Amino acid sequence: MSKKLAGKVAIVTGASKGIGASIALHLAAEGASVVVNYSSSKEGAERIAKEIQQKGGKSMVIQANMTNQKEIQHLFSEAEKAFGKLDILVNNAGIYDFTPIDEFTSEHFHKMFDLNVLGLLLASQEAVKRFGTKGGSIVNISSVVSIYSEPGFSIYSGTKGAVDAITRSLAKELGPRKIRVNTINPGLIETEGTHAGGMAEGEFRREFEKKTSLGRIGQPQDIAHAAVFLASDDASWITGESLFITGGHA
Ligand SMILES: NC(=O)c1ccc[n+]([C@@H]2O[C@H](COP(=O)([O-])OP(=O)(O)OC[C@H]3O[C@@H](n4cnc5c(N)ncnc54)[C@H](OP(=O)(O)O)[C@@H]3O)[C@@H](O)[C@H]2O)c1
Repeated sequence: MSKKLAGKVAIVTGASKGIGASIALHLAAEGASVVVNYSSSKEGAERIAKEIQQKGGKSMVIQANMTNQKEIQHLFSEAEKAFGKLDILVNNAGIYDFTPIDEFTSEHFHKMFDLNVLGLLLASQEAVKRFGTKGGSIVNISSVVSIYSEPGFSIYSGTKGAVDAITRSLAKELGPRKIRVNTINPGLIETEGTHAGGMAEGEFRREFEKKTSLGRIGQPQDIAHAAVFLASDDASWITGESLFITGGHA
């Protein structure tokens, strides 16, 4: 059986670990050539790229801080030089950090919005310039908390609510160019980031598990399979949608 993404080229932002790393591996397993972007974790990104190559796939690593327009432009031009085209962008790079309204600062706001929203828009702009006449697919990694939020999440939830709204608008704007734009909204996923933030254990994890029909938090591959689907022609009539993958979180 032919692979779903044979001959396609994908960029995954923030793919050195966590959800992005799993998406990179799964896109490559379906035949895509994958650019593994990272900001500071060179070793992690190289490990993912090597794993892809060891399994017979094509990959390369490109460093870019996804809040910096020049570095974003460099990422896309280097990817184009290496692989000659672009078909798929997964806007995964993102940060979460929670602050009550009494303690929030404009620095905190800009740190979150500059990556989760501005970086996603700048990357989408670069991708759209490079998608060919057959169009392309943008998969934005949003969050369950764009809708089902928690106290102290106003800024992070705000960034992900913006991602959902941007996705719906871009889907309309880019549909005539055969570019599909969708979000995946994960529930709590066990990643390096959620472990570092103390969310993948203890009371925080137990609270999420209680709110989840399937009684467990997610693993990165729970999201990666859906990213492959949305990137592929199996989803060729799906755009402007938000796919909540949460184990039944309510
Ligand atoms: N895990 C969850 O429970 C969960 C739930 C819902 C949504 N999400 C969303 O899923 C995405 C990934 O989350 P995760 O838990 O996998 O995160 P993670 O384990 O912390 O990994 C974050 C990734 O983003 C990269 N990154 C961070 N800042 C960057 C920057 N300025 N430029 C480029 N890359 C940058 C990191 O690269 P370096 O290490 O090189 O900096 C790393 O590869 C985020 O958008 C997050 O909001 C996560």
